[in-house]
Amino acid sequence: MRTVEAITRPLTGELSVPGDKSIGHRAVIFSAVARGRSRVLNLCAGEDNLRTVHAFKDLGVAIRQEREGLHIEGKGWDGLHAPGGMIDCGNSGTTMRLLSGVLAGRPFTATLDGDPSLRRRPMQRIIDPLGRMGARISSRNGKGLAPLEIHGANLRGIRYASLVASAQVKSAIILAGLQAEGTTVFEEPQRTRDHTEIMARAFGADLTVKGNTVTLAGRQELSARDLRVPGDLSSAAFFVVAAAVVPGSDLIVRDMGCNPTRSGVLDVLGRMGARIEILSPREEGGEPVADLRVRGGRLNGVDIGPEMVARTIDEYPILAVAAALAQGVTTISGARELRNKESDRIATMASELRKLGVEVEEREDGMTIVGQERLKGAAVNTYGDHRVAMALAVAGLRADGGVGIDDSACADVSFPGFFERIERLRGS
Ligand code: S3P
Repeated sequence: MRTVEAITRPLTGELSVPGDKSIGHRAVIFSAVARGRSRVLNLCAGEDNLRTVHAFKDLGVAIRQEREGLHIEGKGWDGLHAPGGMIDCGNSGTTMRLLSGVLAGRPFTATLDGDPSLRRRPMQRIIDPLGRMGARISSRNGKGLAPLEIHGANLRGIRYASLVASAQVKSAIILAGLQAEGTTVFEEPQRTRDHTEIMARAFGADLTVKGNTVTLAGRQELSARDLRVPGDLSSAAFFVVAAAVVPGSDLIVRDMGCNPTRSGVLDVLGRMGARIEILSPREEGGEPVADLRVRGGRLNGVDIGPEMVARTIDEYPILAVAAALAQGVTTISGARELRNKESDRIATMASELRKLGVEVEEREDGMTIVGQERLKGAAVNTYGDHRVAMALAVAGLRADGGVGIDDSACADVSFPGFFERIERLRGS
């Protein structure tokens, strides 16, 4: 049990956060299947990214940690070999789904498994399209759940309209499509994060994006490159909200990835009345990067509708905390997909915010949260979900008596050192 006490002074100063988890996975994957030595700088040391690193080591890729970054010796798609045993994806849905796309086109069989949370998450969404491309993937009891046994094959390109807005599904199909015979056309219902498209191009792939449709030719070889992973906006969001809800705060977060397909949280907070400035916008490796300045004040409740889901998907736990501390009512709708995350984030946030004295109405696709000025201190549960843990820590900064968090270690999945950072900002 770790306690986060209420904060007694504004949050000020500067901070940076670990490298973007989504971009980090892709940097490792593309480096591993490209030809030549790539160097990845600022890869997040969290467990999720390390799962992807270990997976490619299991597949025979030479990866070394050097002082300035990770050196990855890619030998092309054919440089991957059958793993000696099961590949453990831990808690990481991105590792499992993107790796499935890579392995679907390799001439061997591999088994992917994960922790109890990952074993509950839906995999049929990648099994179907990868199956149509020619791979044979069997799942536990045929129910679309891990462990997955992937029998790779000579793939053929497909035209596929996905019913779910998921960057992981899109990325799995792009990674398979790059190896396939013929053209692949992937259409998504809402534009999701485009890190895979950006990174594929950075490694020399040719692909066309028009609206919500990605088109690519098959049999593409990639070439190595060096790249630097920008700071993770999804990790920064916890500090952005912490500063936004503590009057008098003035915090700068440096070197943030600000890709518009990911930055819904900044738009929502802006609508809630948060004072956030984007400073020195620039580009690194095709990704938009900037510094953020946040000043504290009082937020107002807003409607967060279905149109926000894809761009904001990982920030609902922390936005629920922002809503709990806002003036008035916030309504989240069209966000059923939150029930498929590391935990059921609608159920978990509703139950934990209630423990902090917040009035919450839970619905199938969202919730309504009645804001209040301060929260009630309580013991809370993370359900092993890193973003729930960090969101509840931020709630603790505004809870009389603080919050006691049952499992703070799960934050290490995406943000090792998060709680130490919070303590430093709290000034204790
Ligand atoms: C991710 C996509 C999103 C997101 C996850 C990371 C990615 O998942 O929630 O944290 O890196 O592609 P879905 O594709 O399931 O929406």
